[in-house]
Amino acid sequence: MTTARPVLATPLRDVPFYTPARNECALFELAWRRKLPLLLKGPTGCGKTRFVAHMAARLGLPLHTVSCHDDLTAADLTGRYLLKGGDTVWTDGPLTRAVREGGICYLDEVVEARKDVAVVLHPLTDDRRVLPLERTGELLEAPDGFMLVVSYNPGYQSLLKTLKPSTRQRFVALEFGFLPPEQEIAVVAAESGLPAGRVAPLVTLAGRLRALKGQDLEEGVSTRLVVYCASLIAAGMPVREAVLSTMIEPLTDEPEVKAALVEVAGAVVV
Ligand SMILES: Nc1ncnc2c1ncn2[C@@H]1O[C@H](COP(=O)(O)OP(=O)(O)OP(=O)(O)O)[C@@H](O)[C@H]1O
Ligand SMILES: [Mg+2]
Repeated sequence: MTTARPVLATPLRDVPFYTPARNECALFELAWRRKLPLLLKGPTGCGKTRFVAHMAARLGLPLHTVSCHDDLTAADLTGRYLLKGGDTVWTDGPLTRAVREGGICYLDEVVEARKDVAVVLHPLTDDRRVLPLERTGELLEAPDGFMLVVSYNPGYQSLLKTLKPSTRQRFVALEFGFLPPEQEIAVVAAESGLPAGRVAPLVTLAGRLRALKGQDLEEGVSTRLVVYCASLIAAGMPVREAVLSTMIEPLTDEPEVKAALVEVAGAVVV
């Protein structure tokens, strides 16, 4: 991947700030060029959505984002006939719009969607690259600039909520984790405005709390929460209060677990 050309010789304005952990930007661009769909997996708040927004802007592509939920059906993605002034009119769903217009279609938390969604994703994510619209009889061919990106968090799924092998094996996959401390400090400082020297202990604390995942905690503290914490401190909140309300309270409802987290925090930052 190190031989991949940079996407752009000069940086564009209005590109959402994103610090890469590894080769993900080059991989994304190559997948887009080769018309391959991409699957991103990783814990909450580690930068998946920001990465997609960043790459869409870098490549100059429109971004169509759909947040999937457990009621989302194939028809919600493709479209349906709706009553308009006494007539029934076909109305494209977000996936159909993305295929017609080109650009990136990003299905966030794709494992939440109903099983019938796989039926529309399969022909779009293999070498056919088509979207059949049964109700209108159309067979839409995805344009060259179209790319499907899906993401999910493997952490909090039940066994029932995983992608079938026949679905997941249609994607190039990229695993996201938290950034190494030096980079995470730089990201949090840039996002919050708090100087790096004051962010460093928060990132150390985040590392300690992440180590408790699986024992006391379902999920480790996200970069998003560290950014919240640093933002509140930058706005004048005392460190102890900011840490409690952003890096401890959102993680647990159990009094004993909370007490243990407060103790860890006390040893690191306050
Ligand atoms: N590599 C990074 N570069 C820049 N900002 C980052 C990075 N990683 C995390 N962030 C910060 O963390 C916040 C959360 O990231 P994002 O919303 O992309 O997480 P996510 O992985 O999509 O989480 P979820 O699974 O909950 O949707 C961002 O708003 C940004 O402030
Ligand atoms: Mg997200």
